[in-house]
Amino acid sequence: MSDKKIKLEELKKECDKCCKCSLGNTRKNMVFADGNIDAEIFLIGEAPGADEDNTGIPFVGRAGKLLTKLIEDVDLSRKNDFYIANTVKCRPPENRIPTDEEKILCEKYLLKQIEIVKPKVVVLCGATSAKSFLGNKIKISAIRGNWYKILNDIDATVIFHPSYLLRNHSEDKGSPRWLTKEDLKKIKDFISKV
Ligand code: URA
Repeated sequence: MSDKKIKLEELKKECDKCCKCSLGNTRKNMVFADGNIDAEIFLIGEAPGADEDNTGIPFVGRAGKLLTKLIEDVDLSRKNDFYIANTVKCRPPENRIPTDEEKILCEKYLLKQIEIVKPKVVVLCGATSAKSFLGNKIKISAIRGNWYKILNDIDATVIFHPSYLLRNHSEDKGSPRWLTKEDLKKIKDFISKV
């Protein structure tokens, strides 16, 4: 087993035991990550929903299926090109947005995952994830597609959350779905160059 895999499995075991916030008491499953531990793209969503809580895998519900489709539409592979996690590892009741306290208590695990995986780019998927790294004042429609440096020197970019895209069906030029595909193409282009 690779060193990376061993470190991630150790971290996963720690997360499985975690009850630092109240979400630990209501979860069915802790949702650690999905995808390729050697991927160049590390995507961070908001929080597990009901489907993720039931399976222990991020982005497997309706939003996840749409995210997977958009990734495939630009000829990337969710399984090979992405490592996927969330700002918090346990489902907030009624799918509410995780609180700042929950995010801060869970951040240690997410930062450790990033440190172990060593991605070339971090994709902040949706406002909750973007706010964790870029500050609470951001407006997603204003910053998506922009590039930032986070955690000292890691390239990061922002895309719309697929739950928002589920409410916006248009694929017309300039629509949120169209913009997201453009953003994913830019990410594909970026990893082919670095
Ligand atoms: N939404 C998220 O942000 N993450 C998931 O894992 C599922 C839905």
